Formats: sequence, structure tokens, C-alpha cells
Amino acid sequence: MNPERAAARAEILRREIERHNHAYYVLDAPTVPDAEYDRLFRELQALEAGHPGLRSADSPTQRVGGKPLPEFAPVRHAVPMLSIRTETDTEPSGARAFDARVRRELGLGEGDALVDYAVELKFDGLAINLRYENGVLVQAATRGDGETGEEVTQNIRTVRRIPLRLAGAVPPLLEVRGEVFMSRPDFERYNEKQRARGRATLVNPRNGAAGSIRQLDPAMAAERPLSFYAYGLGDTRGWNLPATHAGVLDALAAFGLPVCEHRAVVAGADGLIAFHARMREMRDALPFDIDGVVYKVNSLALQQRLGFVTREPRWAVAHKYPAEEALTTVEAIEVQVGRTGAITPVARLAPVFVGGVTVTNATLHNEAEARRKDVRIGDTVVVRRAGDVIPEVVAVVMERRPKKDLPGDEALHSAFALPKNCPVCGSAIERPEDEAIARCSGGLVCPAQRKQALLHFAGRRALDIEGLGDKLVEQLVDNAIIKTPADLYKLGLLKMITLERMAEKSAANILAAIEKSKATTLARFIFALGIRNVGEATAKDLARFFGSLDALMAADIDRLQQVPDVGPVVAASIVRFFAEPHNVEVIEQLRAAGVTWTEGEAVAAVSSPVAGKTFVLTGTLPTLTRDAARDMIEALGGKVAGSVSKKTDYVVAGAEAGSKLEKARDLEVAILDEAQFRELLAGGHKS
Ligand code: IVH
Repeated sequence: MNPERAAARAEILRREIERHNHAYYVLDAPTVPDAEYDRLFRELQALEAGHPGLRSADSPTQRVGGKPLPEFAPVRHAVPMLSIRTETDTEPSGARAFDARVRRELGLGEGDALVDYAVELKFDGLAINLRYENGVLVQAATRGDGETGEEVTQNIRTVRRIPLRLAGAVPPLLEVRGEVFMSRPDFERYNEKQRARGRATLVNPRNGAAGSIRQLDPAMAAERPLSFYAYGLGDTRGWNLPATHAGVLDALAAFGLPVCEHRAVVAGADGLIAFHARMREMRDALPFDIDGVVYKVNSLALQQRLGFVTREPRWAVAHKYPAEEALTTVEAIEVQVGRTGAITPVARLAPVFVGGVTVTNATLHNEAEARRKDVRIGDTVVVRRAGDVIPEVVAVVMERRPKKDLPGDEALHSAFALPKNCPVCGSAIERPEDEAIARCSGGLVCPAQRKQALLHFAGRRALDIEGLGDKLVEQLVDNAIIKTPADLYKLGLLKMITLERMAEKSAANILAAIEKSKATTLARFIFALGIRNVGEATAKDLARFFGSLDALMAADIDRLQQVPDVGPVVAASIVRFFAEPHNVEVIEQLRAAGVTWTEGEAVAAVSSPVAGKTFVLTGTLPTLTRDAARDMIEALGGKVAGSVSKKTDYVVAGAEAGSKLEKARDLEVAILDEAQFRELLAGGHKS
């Protein structure tokens, strides 16, 4: 290609790519598929490689291309970068105080009109000055001391939301000021990646943004995904400025710069207060952190009249929100046991006010997280409480870790390890390989798990004790009448009628239901134990395979894996459950209380056409309920699964069957309607 044509083509490509960048990064509305974008990008790269003279500073290919710097060059700001007065009173009175000051300075009396304010978010990142000459980004600088900052142009070029070239009729000189920040999702993703590589993570998005811009190596900066919002001007030349701040922001948006959509023009103190409240509601739904809102007198003429005190404009103020992060110290690290036995390490903290409440505990999520963060007693930590989310320990401030000065202090300062036994019931704590969450293995005995265990035990598909629901279990457990399922069988009428709202008649009914539940099946009994990973279908498989509870209890991992559909995870859960003496004790008590079951129930069904086959039920059948169909299948030794896979033998489909039916068609699984299903069960269907 001759140089002229190459230059023309490069220019077209650059404009195209910048247009797509703007749509993608600023408007959040991609205009072309990624592949097409990549194609344009590669074409431009190839052109520039063939004609190095074409490689201009504003070319999109130059976003990540700079060499590491020995140091940042100082930049003297043409217009000083001021800071902004902060209103620390987070209540509405903070906004009223600002409005009153502005009115006083402007000499406005009570009868005079309300002042208009441009209101926007206070982003939590790093202030940057972008210098555009004839629409081309030529320099980017940090705020520094306000007079002199550091040149960070190379790093700023890596921020995709910042246009390298502006659009439209731009003034010959335009300095744009705004905030570079890291969004929460980008922050999480970056940390995730770092963790996977075993590298250092960022403490918070703010540090992420600041650290990234102050990287001497632009390649490193490029790895950290940053965003940008423009909020004001620096030096400008040859521009007939709009009359208002809101007008300035509109103009910047029209030039292709990202301006946050959460902004408005409001009148007077009430308008400020309403915006403050509205954005506070919105705060946790935003994909980035804000620490408050900013109020600016909208009229640029009035701004001029108000002027500055020392280094702060009188026409603007930042009105804060309660901080979502705070520093405090760790007094102890304990573990909590959840309703399902999940063990959660929790840091006990010196009380700290964060997110609007006093926090004394914060979760460490799980053992791996606690170790990764390396939280120790005595540490100073960052605690975060965003919205109604449970407070969490974000990170340790390592520089503040106490030195081990006294002998014996080592215990205080050692890394966190899970206790071996449940702090509530003393049963062994187990963490299955490949799982993040450790659990108490005393499912049947642990007070923390009692309610859950009893409800499960009494459930319709377990021992089916009618009338033993939420409310009753709550009362029985809270009044310490029942500790384990075995205690159910020791309940007398007298004890029952002492309970709140329990009439003699209903007490008798429940006792009768408990009595009736004593005669059950082995499968139901196994399911009722609440062994982790043992659902109803597995319980049935186990009952069929082992034929007796004693045989099941005696089985080792290898033997268990001979059961169809039982893999290493399920087998390990079963072994763990029966290895816990507390659980075995409860089983003995249940037997002693007279709970019995029929064993070897499925043997007679083995020869049926349904034996060993897997069914999936979907949609509404004309006459059969799903439970009824399931019972029929299982009575003949078949199984019912929840989703369609290659292992499915039949899908029984009724009206309004959805994706499962589609999947069955895809996988070419036999599909039956109710009539064909009944025929199959009767032994007449050949397929
Ligand atoms: S205006 C003369 N607007 O807050 C007024 N600043 O001390 C100059 N900030 O670090 C600032 N969001 O980077 C303004 N919407 C916003 C802002 C904002 C965040 C930062 C700014 C500076 C500090 C002001």
C-alpha cells in the first residue's frame, strides 16, 4: 500500500476504533462484536508496523506500549488543582449548613430565590488532570500538592474509558479533571486472578487505582482495570464556556468523555438533602465505591463571585456518608456453627462504628480465607460493612502487627487454625477435600443443628411425623424438652400440653403421629439421619444395596462406592457420619425407643421392567401427582432424578413441560406420556 493510502486507511481505522471504544467503555453499549473490533485493531497494528511514521500518540494501539520510567516527571498545573471542603456531619444539617454559608456569602436574604446546585457523586479514587490539545490527549497528571503533580500519561493511556481523542468541535486547549477509580467487580476479579497466581492482592479499590496510576511500568498498570469519570475543568483556551457547571458536564459528555449519569441540578437545601438521601439508598447498588456526594453552585458566574478560601472553593462541598470501612483490632478469633453445621471463623473486634452501626464481630468466611488474610489476634484490620451485608474482615494492616516481645506471646500471634472439635457439641470438625466449608459432624446431637436436624428427621419423606413443624420444634428445642430425635419418643402428654398454644387434642394427635413413625422403612430411616450428601434417592440405593443398617454402618469407603451412583464424596460423608460416636449413640437410642424398619424392601422388584431405570418427571400429568408417579416408580425399583442427562432412561412429560423435555429430545431419551408410562409399569411397553 502506498504511504498516502496507508495514512488515509489508518485514520479511518483509528476513528472507527475510537468510536467503538466510546460505545463500549463510556456508553456501555457495544456497537460491534468483539471479533470485529479485534480485526480492526489488528489491521491498524499491521499498518503501523509497515509505516512506523503513522504511529501517533493518539493511536488506540498506543494504549499499552510505553516503556517503564525511571521516575515520574513533575508537571506544573496551569490552574491549581484545589481540594474540596468536606462536610463531616453526615446528617441533613450538613447540607443546610453549606446552603446557609453560600447564601450568606452571596448576600441573599430569606425572601430571595433558592440557589441552584449541580449535585454529583464523590468518587473514591485518584484525581487526574487530562490535557487535550486540539482534541488529542497529550498529557495526564496527578494532583500532587495541587501546584505540581506527576506526569502519568503512559498509565492513563491504558484506561480504556479515557478517550485518546475527543469528538466534535473541541476547543484548541481543554483540560479535563476527574477521578480515576477501580470498580468493585474489577477489583474482585483482579484479586481473584492475583490469588490464583499466588500474588499479592489489593486491600481496596482505592488503593488499587492509586497504586496502578503510580506504577512506573505501564505494562503493570495495564493489568489493573481502571475506570474514569470527568467532573470539572482545568485550563481551557478558545472555548466559550457554558453558563453552568451542569452545562460544562454536558459538553464534556458530548466530547466523548465519561460523565457519571447520577447527577442532577437541584434547588436549595431541600434539594441537596433529597439527593444525599437518594444516593445513599443507591450506594450499595453502584458498581463502585463512593464516600459521599458533592454539591457545587451551578452558575459559573456565582462560583466566581464566591471564590476561594485558602485552597478550597466556597462554592463546593463534599457531603459524606458514614464510612463503610474502618480500622479496629482483633481481640479473639472464634468459630460459629450454623444450622447446617457449617463452621465459620469469626473475628471478635474492639467495637468500631462502621456503615452506620457499631460492629463487634466480623466474618472471616472460612478457614482458607482466614489463612489467606492471615488474621491474628492483636492485628489491626480493615472491617467493611456495606448495606445490610454481614460485616467482614477485608485485610490486615501488616505494618501495624504487634511485635512478639514477650515470651509466651507467640500463641497470640500465630496463624489461624480451625479447632478439631465443634465448640458447641464437641463432635469432630471435618472438611471434605475440595470443599471450602468445614462442618461439625455431630448432625444429630449438635445443639446448633438441633432444630434443622429434627425438622429433617420428621419430614414427610423421612419419618413423616405429621404435625411436627417449625413452630413446635422451635418450642421443644428452646425449652430444652428435646435434644435429639430419640427424645421425641420419650415425650409424654403432660410435657406436650405445657407448651404454648397446645391443646390436649392436638398434643395427642402429635404423640400418635410420633408413635406411628416408629414403624418405617430402612430407606426412610437412613434419609432421616440427615447424613450430608445423602438425599432420598441415595438413601434408597443404600437401603437396597446393604439391606440392613448394621451392614451400612460397617461399610468402608470402598464398599460404599460399589453402590450405584455413590462416589467418593458421598462415601466419605457416610463414613464420617458413622465415625462420630455421638451420632451412633443417637441411633442406638432410637432403636431402644422402638423405632423399627422393614429391611431388604426392594428385592422383590428387581425383575420388574422398571428396576434400575432412571426417570425424570416433568410438567403436569393428567391424573397422577408427581409424588404418586415417583412412588410407583420407586415401588418397582426404579429411580427418579431431578435433571435429564445421558443416564436418564425415560422422561415422563405432562402439560407445560419445559426445558427438561427439550433436553430429552436433544439427548434422544425416550419420552412417555402418562398412558405410556402406566403401560410401561404394567410391563407391556417395549422400547
Ligand atoms: S470537584 C474545586 N467533584 O475529591 C473542586 N471532586 O478534595 C475540585 N472528588 O481528590 C474537586 N468526586 O478527586 C470534585 N464529583 C467530584 C468528585 C471530586 C471525587 C475528589 C477529588 C479530590 C477530592 C476533593
